[in-house]
Amino acid sequence: MTGITAYVNGRFLPLGEAAVGIEDRGYQFGDGIYEVVRVYGGTPFKMREHLDRLRRSARAIELDLPDLDRLTEDALELLKRNGLRECSLYIQVTRGVCPRKHTVPRGIAPTVVMTAREVAGFPAEYRSRGVKLITVPDDRWARCYIKTTNLLPNVLARSKAERAGAYEAVFVRDGFVMECSSSNLFIVESGALVTPPLTNYILAGVTRATVIQLAEELGIEVREEAVSLERLYRSDEVFVTGTVTEIVPAVDIDGTTVGTGKPGPVFSLLYRGYTGLTAGAGDA
Ligand SMILES: Cc1ncc(COP(=O)(O)O)c(C=O)c1O
Repeated sequence: MTGITAYVNGRFLPLGEAAVGIEDRGYQFGDGIYEVVRVYGGTPFKMREHLDRLRRSARAIELDLPDLDRLTEDALELLKRNGLRECSLYIQVTRGVCPRKHTVPRGIAPTVVMTAREVAGFPAEYRSRGVKLITVPDDRWARCYIKTTNLLPNVLARSKAERAGAYEAVFVRDGFVMECSSSNLFIVESGALVTPPLTNYILAGVTRATVIQLAEELGIEVREEAVSLERLYRSDEVFVTGTVTEIVPAVDIDGTTVGTGKPGPVFSLLYRGYTGLTAGAGDA
């Protein structure tokens, strides 16, 4: 027994007893959506933004969401029951359980599952020395703006990165970089922050938006424009952003050294600003 409490459709259960039916469409078709929310000091950070994105994902796959106010209350209860204040909260909503058929069934209740887990934390050198990235062909589908549980290409790309001793895999489509397997990508050129624009091939990261806003507040020029692979290699700084990742600088891409080979000043400034925001999250 792990002592971990999970949430399934309004019920709080020991993790080992938490289960969904084998005909759940999330299990059979990957017919579901999810969010990962970082909790700082017991308070979910950017919860509204995550729920907004959950709504957008639900709309995109024609899924009727349950009441999200109730879901938020239950999420807080889950954190309490697990005694967690620094953790990640996983929220998954699948289409529900019904006999297998491809068409979207009507009138079935979605399956809602939540778990909260302590965040393992990165080795300190990830941020002090920077990490490696590899690039991989973007072989995902054309609806990457939906945060779907269908993550097989991302799983394979991230595993390839891990085998190569890299932190993340950058998806490259027609010579242009999109995002990573579970994070967004930024480069710095002559002091300006550049990130690929939000298209159907990119997930609108909550951390991405936070970092853009932070940069603007700090007076850093921000441009959302297409970034070619050559431009990525030649940039002064590169970093990736994500809810659990926060901001992690990259110093090597496919064996090519980025900038000075050390995390740069724009990363440092933004990371300091970001930790300031998250440290205040528990005060809200
Ligand atoms: C494909 C992809 N891009 C970007 C992100 C970063 O999004 P966020 O900052 O909202 O965590 C994620 C997060 O899991 C992701 O899966």
